[in-house]
Amino acid sequence: MHLYVCRDYDTISKKAAGLVGGMVSVKPNCILGLATGSSPIGMYERLAEMYRDGITDFSKVTTFNLDEYCALSEENDQSYHYFMREHLFRHINVPDENIHIPSGCTQDMEMECQQYDAAIAAAGGIDIQVLGIGSNGHIGFNEPADAFIGPTHLVNLKESTIKANARFFQSEADVPRRAISMGIGSIMAAKKILLIAHGANKAKAITATLEGPITPEVPASILQLHPDVVMMIDQEAAAGLSEYQPEGR
Ligand code: GLP
Repeated sequence: MHLYVCRDYDTISKKAAGLVGGMVSVKPNCILGLATGSSPIGMYERLAEMYRDGITDFSKVTTFNLDEYCALSEENDQSYHYFMREHLFRHINVPDENIHIPSGCTQDMEMECQQYDAAIAAAGGIDIQVLGIGSNGHIGFNEPADAFIGPTHLVNLKESTIKANARFFQSEADVPRRAISMGIGSIMAAKKILLIAHGANKAKAITATLEGPITPEVPASILQLHPDVVMMIDQEAAAGLSEYQPEGR
C-alpha cells in the first residue's frame, strides 16, 4: 500500500489526476473504475483540463462506475448518472457507448447486478479503480456488515450514510434508502486501486482501514489484502495514523 499524505485537497486532486491520466497515456484503451461523492470532484476537474489541453485522450477508454441510487431517474440531479455527466463525461471525449453506470431503475435488479459484473469481466477487468470512503468506512455503497459481499448487489443504506448524503438532497427524507453497488469482490478484482480522502471526518475510517483488523464492519479494511493500492489523503484525514507525524514531513 502506498500512502501519500498531501498538503491539501488541491494537491490530492492533481496527484490523483496524474495517476489516472498517466494510466490513460500508457494504455489508451484502459478500463477505468470511477467513483462519485465530493472526493473525486477536483480530480475530475483536472482530468477535464488535461483533455482540454490536449494532454489526455479518452477516446478509447471504457468506464465502469461503482454505484447508483435505486429509483432515481438518470435525469435526476442527485443521481450518479447526472453527477458523472456534469463533473466528467461532458467535459472529455469518452464515447457514450463506453460508459457504464449500474441502473437503479431496472425492473430485474438481480439481472442488472449479474450483467454489470459480466460486462466488467468481458471488458477485461478494471485497470484502476478510484474510490472515496464513507465516514463509516464504506467503499462504493458496501456498508458495514457481518460479511463481505463479493458481487455487484442491492444495498440497504445505513442510517449514517443517509445522514451523510442528505447534504446533497433537499431533505433527509429525499435520500433513497436503497442503492446498487459493485461488491467487494468486484472492487478487489481491479488491478490497481486509488483511494482519495480528505477532511477530519474521514480520519477514523482511514485509521481503521490502514491499522485496524480486516473486518466487514469496516469494508475498506479489505484493501489491506490488495496488492496494489495507492491512498492519497490530506493531513486531517491522516491525523489518527500512529505512524503519521506532521512535523516530520
Ligand atoms: C457515497 C458514495 C461513495 C463515496 C462516499 C464518500 O456514499 N457512494 O462512493 O466514496 O459517498 O463521499 P464523499 O467523497 O462526498 O465524502
